[in-house]
Amino acid sequence: MRLTAITIFPDYFSPLSLSLIGKAEEEGLISTEIVNLRDFATGVHRSVDDTPYGGGAGMVMRADIWGDAIDSVSASSKAKIIDLVILTPSGRRFTQRDAVALSKAEQILFACGRYEGIDARVGEFYGTQDRFRVHHLSIGDYVLNGGEVAALVVMEAVIRLLPGVLGNPDSLAEESHNDEGFLEYPVYTKPPTWRGVDVPDVLLSGNHGEIARWRRENSQIVSSEGS
Ligand code: ADE
Repeated sequence: MRLTAITIFPDYFSPLSLSLIGKAEEEGLISTEIVNLRDFATGVHRSVDDTPYGGGAGMVMRADIWGDAIDSVSASSKAKIIDLVILTPSGRRFTQRDAVALSKAEQILFACGRYEGIDARVGEFYGTQDRFRVHHLSIGDYVLNGGEVAALVVMEAVIRLLPGVLGNPDSLAEESHNDEGFLEYPVYTKPPTWRGVDVPDVLLSGNHGEIARWRRENSQIVSSEGS
């Protein structure tokens, strides 16, 4: 899978070289590409934004500059379909289900807006292009300074689902998916007593049937739909 981010702050993406994601890239399971939007700005100040039509506070990122950046990524891409993810607090709430769907993508292109956002015609235009599937996604009901952190969240949720990325693939199976969501139960490790607090006896019993039952009974169902 190829993961591309277009941003005016490429350094935000340095964590991609760390941990399991860094290893996934070293092993060729993914390739990442960070594109500086400012490289497509033409004016003397290389500005990428302008005042909003209709007035109001803040600045809006220009469609022409975004279009040139996206076209350049598209021109150098081998993917048949590019999933264009536009991060915005007004997008649909990103869920585990989206992560699973995006984990099947050939290439995901993350558009990281800043200021008051990206001119709406960018999403509209690429939505009409056969090669693109456009998703407006939010990672939660709060406003960040830009889409970069949100893109990292979506990247991590997607990349860990790719075959070979997790050291122990059982970890994925354990997040047992069903229509209701996924199950998460309390976990413990050594020592068996810590500051007077014991690990539940059943987990030390070696009885796998009982352990599975205890875990089911003590699971929180985290909805795939968000709440
Ligand atoms: N950009 C700013 N806030 C955001 C959020 N909550 N989700 C996605 N992108 C954003």
